Amino acid sequence: MKALYVLGKPIAHSLSPVFQNAGLQAAGLPPVYTRREVDEKDLENLAQGVRSGNVLGCNITLPYKTQAAQLADRTTPAVEATGVANTWWAENGELWADNTDIVGLQMSFAALLKERDARRVVILGAGGAANAAIFALAPSVEHLTIVNRTLSKAEDSLNQAQPWLKNHTVKQALAWPSTAEDATEVNAAIRAADLVIQTTSIPILYPQDPTPFALLALDEIGGASRGALLELAYGDEPTVPMQRARDSGASALDGATMLLHQGARSFERWIGKRPDVAVMRDALAKAVGRNPDDIAAEIPEDIRRRWGVAPRDAACGFM
Ligand code: ATR
Repeated sequence: MKALYVLGKPIAHSLSPVFQNAGLQAAGLPPVYTRREVDEKDLENLAQGVRSGNVLGCNITLPYKTQAAQLADRTTPAVEATGVANTWWAENGELWADNTDIVGLQMSFAALLKERDARRVVILGAGGAANAAIFALAPSVEHLTIVNRTLSKAEDSLNQAQPWLKNHTVKQALAWPSTAEDATEVNAAIRAADLVIQTTSIPILYPQDPTPFALLALDEIGGASRGALLELAYGDEPTVPMQRARDSGASALDGATMLLHQGARSFERWIGKRPDVAVMRDALAKAVGRNPDDIAAEIPEDIRRRWGVAPRDAACGFM
């Protein structure tokens, strides 16, 4: 069997081999998925390797997600919208790219919110993960607030998202508060929110430090009607925003569910069939020191569809 890689720089931290190889073995295939640290030239060579059929496929992670989209011959709607890709495979001698983070996010909304709505949403941060979250939520959101340290990046994210959002969606970009007074508008949005999405790198840069979030009303998400928090970081412990949300009675989910389901959709792209997601989930849970029940493997189809998860993208065929 041809190789599968996860490409990035650095790459040693990637957990993808652990759960992708578990999925391959559960499908009766050899564990051919490995990490590979690459520079830009290697990335181009690997793009050609996938195109020519010498390599079965790749995941591509930081800092190459934009180049991964640009090197492809064909792209899915998720890549066209977000400008980034994390999965390569080949069909009929063409290099295809998908952004399976979108499915990972939709599955996370499904697992966290189930039948509840996400009409009023606050996104903390304005990097690539925030853009993916806006795209994944665009069909349902009616009131969108982006809060970011650099205000101009929050404004840029809203401008980029304009074509995806419904015409009547109310949008606002706010600066990350540095005084209690600055926090008034942000906290009004948090208290009214069905969903807060934490996309900043703060929990990775300063694990368990409550200070950067201290002025945000994360224990009042949704006010009396109780909202939900999706954290995109993951680890063996809940992050500060997750803990505050849970302590106040709101529900919270971390990024392990997104990681699992972006990987499951990538597997489908390479192998042409759905993996045993429960096996992949168990391997991931073990690697991050978590209870497997915290990470949703399967989600009922009616709930998946509600959050926009199509069985597979009808725009591309499969081997
Ligand atoms: P990605 O594309 O993976 O989302 P990124 O572009 O590095 O990563 O974005 C990191 C996010 O975390 C940004 O929104 C960043 O804010 P800036 O745009 O102002 O840089 C945010 N972030 C990082 N450290 C932060 C801090 N100490 N306080 C507030 N926001 C922070």
